[in-house]
Amino acid sequence: MPDGPETSRSVPEHVGIIMDGNGRWANARGLHRTQGHANGEPALFDVVHGAIDLGIKWLTVYTFSTENWSRDEYEVEFLMQFNVDLLERRRDELNELGVRVLFAGDRNDSRIPPILLDRMESAEELTADNDTMTMVFAFNYGGRVEIVDAVKKIAEEAAAGNLAPNEVTEEVIGRHLYVPDMPDPDLVIRTSGEQRTSNFLLWQAAYAEYVFTPVLWPDFDRHELARCVAEYQGRERRFGGAEDESLTGDVG
Ligand code: IPE
Ligand code: IPE
Ligand code: MG
Repeated sequence: MPDGPETSRSVPEHVGIIMDGNGRWANARGLHRTQGHANGEPALFDVVHGAIDLGIKWLTVYTFSTENWSRDEYEVEFLMQFNVDLLERRRDELNELGVRVLFAGDRNDSRIPPILLDRMESAEELTADNDTMTMVFAFNYGGRVEIVDAVKKIAEEAAAGNLAPNEVTEEVIGRHLYVPDMPDPDLVIRTSGEQRTSNFLLWQAAYAEYVFTPVLWPDFDRHELARCVAEYQGRERRFGGAEDESLTGDVG
């Protein structure tokens, strides 16, 4: 195979999803926005099944950002309890599907209820040996905080004399992120029509393809996932390289 731009015909190894639009979905039906979060659960699990069927190996879903604490107390409390309930209800199903569950985010945050930290740890322990697909819940996650935390750990190693500044490489930074063995996402999907990253996988998504869909998260399903993957497969990934469409004559 000659060196050249990579066309992305294959199934993405890692898909990230910014699950957005729950509040708007609920408001459009005269419901409280928390009902939108509740209706996002079946969408998420349909997508898990669809991702496994497509052969996706890593699925990272943005469930709560470091900025989401600014929502009103009732919504934040609902989301914390909803995560506890969801993990209790769905843990065995994920395990039976062969899904390894991981969490990415700041866990040393006193605002996270201890019972939720406990359910997160149990889900990780129960599913640790599964290898059909790894599902990462980006919870209390912020890309900038993740990088700050990595830099702190690296600075500590340098201050202790275990790492020279010129030994800091992209690989070293990658090893200090929340999930060190996570491959870079090939595709990031954002639902609800918003076209921004909102602090999701800032480091890892440097060369991700983005697909934005107007579908609100509770209406998303495995068919829409397959459509987004097909859109990705039609893209040409260049990674900074260049290729002309066709050479019709001599240059120069
Ligand atoms: C995404 O839906 C879920 C979370 C951020 C927790 P939103 O709650 O942001 O829904 P919209 O964007 O207000 O419609
Ligand atoms: C991003 O959605 C966070 C999650 C999906 C968990 P937001 O709704 O919080 O993002 P903004 O505020 O519209 O950028
Ligand atoms: Mg939103």
